[in-house]
Amino acid sequence: MKVLLVTSKPFAAQAVGGIQQILESAGHQFEKLEGYTDKTQLLGAVKDANAIIIRSDVINREVIEAAPNLKVVVRAGAGYDNVDLDAATSRDVCVMNTPGQNANAVAELVLGMLIYIQRNQFDGSVGREISYKTLGLYAFGNVAKMVAKIARGFSMTVNAYSPTLSHDDLRKEGEYGVVTVYSNEELFEKSDFVSLHMPLLPETRNCVTYDLLSLMPRDGVLINTARRELLVEEDLLRIMEERPRFQFITDMMPVRHEEFLSRFPKRYFSTPKKAGAQTTEANVNAGLAAASQIVTFFQNGDERFRVNNKS
Ligand code: 3PG
Repeated sequence: MKVLLVTSKPFAAQAVGGIQQILESAGHQFEKLEGYTDKTQLLGAVKDANAIIIRSDVINREVIEAAPNLKVVVRAGAGYDNVDLDAATSRDVCVMNTPGQNANAVAELVLGMLIYIQRNQFDGSVGREISYKTLGLYAFGNVAKMVAKIARGFSMTVNAYSPTLSHDDLRKEGEYGVVTVYSNEELFEKSDFVSLHMPLLPETRNCVTYDLLSLMPRDGVLINTARRELLVEEDLLRIMEERPRFQFITDMMPVRHEEFLSRFPKRYFSTPKKAGAQTTEANVNAGLAAASQIVTFFQNGDERFRVNNKS
């Protein structure tokens, strides 16, 4: 089978080498299109692919229709809002992700950015510590669990609220040392810092509103390493205007980035390009998992990490 690695944001060379080795030793043909800048390059490359490995690359209906031999798409990462699942299902293409494989990298970025902003971007002025503060995790998937573990190392109290897990399920997560809270309002009210960890779904789009943010402490910090569309940017700008010590750090550059930067230069930080999963370790973990999933998919129909419906 022909397996194509398509990444506009390339993986570390070590990951690419590992992917190639797994696929070729299973008898597959490996090709790659890295660092492409134009959709036409993507459309051309998928023409005769039987499988593709992607990151945040957009796989919409047009791309799926341009790939008549396509059987499987593996998103080497967690979020798959960049793939048109209905289009894949209608063409009988299986879509999978590699849950958890890049979670530690994202979690480290959460704590790293939090220290950076609490120390006033290391400008030498008097900052604040994060130890013994309260961190709220909005949703409790793989990344949030890793954040909880690291945060406990800082002696933080970690609150967790999940819109999808029942309170009993969440309570079972005791090994992570989290305190279950019972509503998103309670989470925002009881946390110095709130970190977002939900996928982008119709029900989570724009879920962080002025009303929620206004429950946070006046010197609270909002952390977004999940998806840009979870926030109502207008509402966040309003909170930052009203609260001169409120801070916002993000790995998802907002649409109104320039405005955040010019109005709140010391209280706002965005990575220039999504960097959460951008470590050699995460690239290797997610990339090799994706390659192995493709091998077992063709070997014995293994669809363990399938995320779209069957046709
Ligand atoms: C994910 O959903 O796994 C992260 O957002 C990482 O995305 P990336 O592979 O494009 O860096």
